[in-house]
Amino acid sequence: MANRMWGGRFGGGPGAIMEEINASIDFDKALWRQDIAGSKAHAAMLAKQGIIAAKDAKVIVQGLDKVAGEIEAGTFKFSRALEDIHMNVESRLAELVGPAAGRLHTARSRNDQIAVDMKLWVRDTIDSLDHALADLQRALAEKARDEAATVMPGFTHLQSAQPVTFGHHLLAYVEMIGRDRGRFADARRRLNECPLGAAALAGTSFPIDREMTAKALRFDRPTANSLDSVADRDFILETLAAASICAVHLSRFAEEIVIWTSAQFGFVRLSDAFSTGSSIMPQKRNPDAAELVRGKTGRIIGALTGTLIMLKALPMTYGKDMQEDKEGTFDALANLSLCVAAIAGMVRDMAPDAERLKQAAGAGHATATDLADWLVRSLGIPFREAHHMTGRIVSLADKMGVRLEALPLSEMRSVEKRITSDVFSVLSVERSVQSRKSLGGTAPSEVRKQARRWLKRLGVGRALG
Ligand code: ARG
Repeated sequence: MANRMWGGRFGGGPGAIMEEINASIDFDKALWRQDIAGSKAHAAMLAKQGIIAAKDAKVIVQGLDKVAGEIEAGTFKFSRALEDIHMNVESRLAELVGPAAGRLHTARSRNDQIAVDMKLWVRDTIDSLDHALADLQRALAEKARDEAATVMPGFTHLQSAQPVTFGHHLLAYVEMIGRDRGRFADARRRLNECPLGAAALAGTSFPIDREMTAKALRFDRPTANSLDSVADRDFILETLAAASICAVHLSRFAEEIVIWTSAQFGFVRLSDAFSTGSSIMPQKRNPDAAELVRGKTGRIIGALTGTLIMLKALPMTYGKDMQEDKEGTFDALANLSLCVAAIAGMVRDMAPDAERLKQAAGAGHATATDLADWLVRSLGIPFREAHHMTGRIVSLADKMGVRLEALPLSEMRSVEKRITSDVFSVLSVERSVQSRKSLGGTAPSEVRKQARRWLKRLGVGRALG
């Protein structure tokens, strides 16, 4: 008997329960373009190989185009009774073209069909993500160029470490996103082998041409093992792993935006376009978009974890468990691309408060390392010893309640009598960042050089200052 609390919707008995758990059409309809492309390539190949008549293939291809038109127009009626996208398309094809439709599934199975559909979908998605990530890099590199000389505090342990430049900070993310793109490209390269023709799992006795379908669907080559072809979901794992790492990068940046926009930090301001108000506290400007980027990282990593666990005990080859790869993958990649767009929007929108950043950059004796370096350079003191002396000077400044650069020379001389007033030339935050000209360092000149290099690589040809 159906459970009284929740059994109502399964009033139809086992049949209804089976349909509910088995049907994937509610989510795999997202694969319709890929499914139809795969079927068209298959039909053309069957005809060329003489497996079906050329006139049947023609009718099938025309019918598939018609089905695509209906789905595009929103007039197609998806049916749960037909389970999945493959059978929904094929059944409508039969209504449209009659018995020829029945020949399409020769030398094919839903097992190789779904593998093709998912690979094509993941490949398309990687391509559009790559576009979006390049745009984010462009937004970051342009802002980095514009803010190459804007000083800000550099942190380790979220404690004042050394002054850096805002542009330098943004370029760090350009590098991370560059590696993310590399990971996606790598996954794409490995997935680009066509499983079509593996059929259910063992291949087929029909004289198919797998090279032809692979080529038609823009794969590099057919897969080499039919069992692996229907069992493989590493391409999803790799893509979700790349997505998770990318999401973590975006989340770290989102976290910084949350911190930076707080009244206590006040490092940057987001316009109304990327802030929301509170329904009770009129003064609030909440960085909701950044918080959501940070929050969505959980479900993206969740999709990776879920898929890994779904696969871990599956014996060769296909198991219906694999149907569970879809919702997480679709959701994770859709949300990632939304996060990429949101971060790019916020980067373009954000206005750093240069005065506030400069103030903060000098807090916590952030130029202490510059003092130690001066002792090494000007007085030939070994760095370890200079470090120790600087520590004593810093504690004097603390005791007097002044910043390092405001500490009288006489006080410094009480620690090391050879110190001259030349030391003050390295204690300002501007001089500190200007001096760090080492490759990849924070000096405005170096930041401009790196921003220029990226913008050129990203195809932005504007004159750079
Ligand atoms: N909906 C299935 C999936 O997503 C398609 C493959 C079904 N194959 C099968 N033999 N039932 O995995």
